[in-house]
Amino acid sequence: MKITVIGCGYLGATHAACLAELGFDVLGVEIDERKLDALAKGDLPFYEPGLDTLLVKQVESGKLRFTSSMKEAAEFGDAHFLCVGTPQRKDGNGADLTYVDGAIESLAEHLTRPTLVIGKSTVPVGTAERLLGILQDKAPAGTDVDLAWNPEFLREGFAVEDTLTPDRLVLGVRNAEAEATLREIYATPIAGGTPVIVTDFPTAELVKVAANSFLATKISFINAMAELCEATGADVVTLADAIGHDARIGRRFLNAGVGFGGGCLPKDIRAFMDRADELGVKDALRFLREIDRINLRRRKRVVKLAKAELGDLEGKRIAVLGAAFKPDSDDIRDSPALDVAVALHAKGADVVVHDPKATGPASAKHPQLSYTESVEEAARGAQLVLHLTEWKEYRALSAAELGDLVAERTIIDGRNCLDQAAYRDAGWTIRSLGRP
Ligand code: UDX
Repeated sequence: MKITVIGCGYLGATHAACLAELGFDVLGVEIDERKLDALAKGDLPFYEPGLDTLLVKQVESGKLRFTSSMKEAAEFGDAHFLCVGTPQRKDGNGADLTYVDGAIESLAEHLTRPTLVIGKSTVPVGTAERLLGILQDKAPAGTDVDLAWNPEFLREGFAVEDTLTPDRLVLGVRNAEAEATLREIYATPIAGGTPVIVTDFPTAELVKVAANSFLATKISFINAMAELCEATGADVVTLADAIGHDARIGRRFLNAGVGFGGGCLPKDIRAFMDRADELGVKDALRFLREIDRINLRRRKRVVKLAKAELGDLEGKRIAVLGAAFKPDSDDIRDSPALDVAVALHAKGADVVVHDPKATGPASAKHPQLSYTESVEEAARGAQLVLHLTEWKEYRALSAAELGDLVAERTIIDGRNCLDQAAYRDAGWTIRSLGRP
């Protein structure tokens, strides 16, 4: 089977390389020339552990190629994965479906033979049915076209692992043929024991946003508990450990701190609320508004703590450790760390940002901040250090050596994972979120 992957961002590039690894001939479609040139040479245009070597391997083997031509893709593929972005709309909270609609229309016009299009992008419920209509309308008369919905659950930083050995496969299909094609594509993970859920379009679409809403809720729940801990002197980390022992609750995704960011959780819960409103069930998701608010309040809390430590921020030197929205990624979309850095800079602070991978994209988006290559350079002369993205190299820092560089030994641990005792022993004042 020959497969195309339309849209080669984080999701598409990973999917394309992994399908090639599974043995398929794959053609990736990317319209951004810069990304296309890089991918065609086997250069990954973003950071994702393990994907760089997989990409080179598959490009060199000839199993993976890239193009910007939808006509070439339509002629090449037996199955087409739709992996284009669905960002938040500039004029509201809903999802911008311009890229999804554009890709389906353009593909449909060029189709010449029986085809299955498989949607992977995160979309508002009801989109798959609408896209099937576009596909059938625009495909040349007599062309047998079908659509399936197969949401993607990969996490950045674990993209390859999550794609090759997913927790589950959700197949939203209208008939047995589409299911059989998907089972053939995913034969390797299915043989390895990955559970398969076969369902209809709306359920498949909802699984994705329901999962992300649940994860966001879990994080905001523990961050709300952090607010209670701050008001009472309790310790949110111990609280999370204790409630996490209950198998019905579980300890994962209960890490309190500066909150969630990235290209998925924040925009997905907003788009989900927007869609519920359109469907006349706004009340059902009203709680997600609160989840979003709790999350954004954590960023303000860090700024408040910084002011409590430094007083007037004008001219104060602050080292910010972390720019990516999470470790093992160079993705800065809706990054809590950068949001805090920008807010402190706006209040007059001299903010110096370090990140092992994300200073390139961060400096392009926020050129007003200063960036350094090394943690030491960022820390030198700092009156306050903020730990906002939990890269493991930050946990490995020596509190004593870091203390020799700074002007004031004060650190705010926005991710609650530094060794508090080690910092205190080295003479630091350490402030955390939700901890005494
Ligand atoms: C998420 C979903 O996990 C994934 O299944 C989906 O396909 C895409 O969206 P991702 O955005 O890569 O993946 O990151 P994730 O690991 O979920 O983390 C999201 C954010 O939550 C990060 O900013 C992270 O720092 C934060 N987080 C996570 C917490 O603040 N506390 C936690 O306990 C866990």
